[in-house]
Amino acid sequence: MLEIENLHVQYGNIEALHGISLHVKPGEMVTLLGANGAGKSTTLMSIMRLPPPEAPRVTQGRIMYKGIDLLPVPPHLVVAQHKIGLVPEGRRVFGNLTVLENLKLATYARKDTAQIHRDYERVFSLFPRLSDRKNQRVDTLSGGEQQMLATGRAFMCGADFILLDEPSMGLSPLLMQELFKVLMDLNQAGMTIFVVEQNAHIALKYAHRAYLMEAGQIVMEGKASELATNPEIQKAYLG
Ligand SMILES: Nc1ncnc2c1ncn2[C@@H]1O[C@H](COP(=O)(O)OP(=O)(O)OP(=O)(O)O)[C@@H](O)[C@H]1O
Ligand SMILES: [Mg+2]
Repeated sequence: MLEIENLHVQYGNIEALHGISLHVKPGEMVTLLGANGAGKSTTLMSIMRLPPPEAPRVTQGRIMYKGIDLLPVPPHLVVAQHKIGLVPEGRRVFGNLTVLENLKLATYARKDTAQIHRDYERVFSLFPRLSDRKNQRVDTLSGGEQQMLATGRAFMCGADFILLDEPSMGLSPLLMQELFKVLMDLNQAGMTIFVVEQNAHIALKYAHRAYLMEAGQIVMEGKASELATNPEIQKAYLG
């Protein structure tokens, strides 16, 4: 579904990704692990083709999505046409709007009205907390509820592939489990998921496969269950 090959990326003159390769197959939940500054968000921003000034610049390599080269694709079409949903770092929901209004914004490019209504139902059944707070202003939601909203919003763009940037950040252990269980449910219902995490414990528990990134390079990859029992990973990331 997603195939990244030998990707080199720069901010200004400084290279942040030094030729990474990774792939995600349809129906998989794959995690990209790494410490602060490893290049995880940069990888996601490269896939989403985010515009300057934040944009990392691809200098070499390929990003293919369902057989199509994403590099020439403008950012709005990555979402609207290629149906890739992003749950960004720090959520970036609209605090002065309600839950429902935030979800509605994600559907702006869709015309499949009947399916949109089914998708609202789906989000509210996955996240009953959001259902209870449909008309509440988002800046009054808890951090966990905002994370759920950000995840629901990615779903509402009609995505069949969702990228998440450190969804566990700032959540209690209980909410983290709750969120990853929902991700697993979504995944089992056919959603392909690529989740960036620093929390190796939770990500390796739920993902099928994992990549480990250090200083802009992939240094290890394999089945999540294998990485979870790898002594190096245990020492550095699982405490
Ligand atoms: N806009 C930018 N301009 C210049 N350098 C940047 C920019 N954004 C990120 N970098 C650098 O690129 C490298 C990778 O950063 P990135 O944000 O991808 O890391 P990360 O793995 O997501 O880290 P974290 O877990 O802290 O979010 C870092 O060295 C960072 O300082
Ligand atoms: Mg990051």
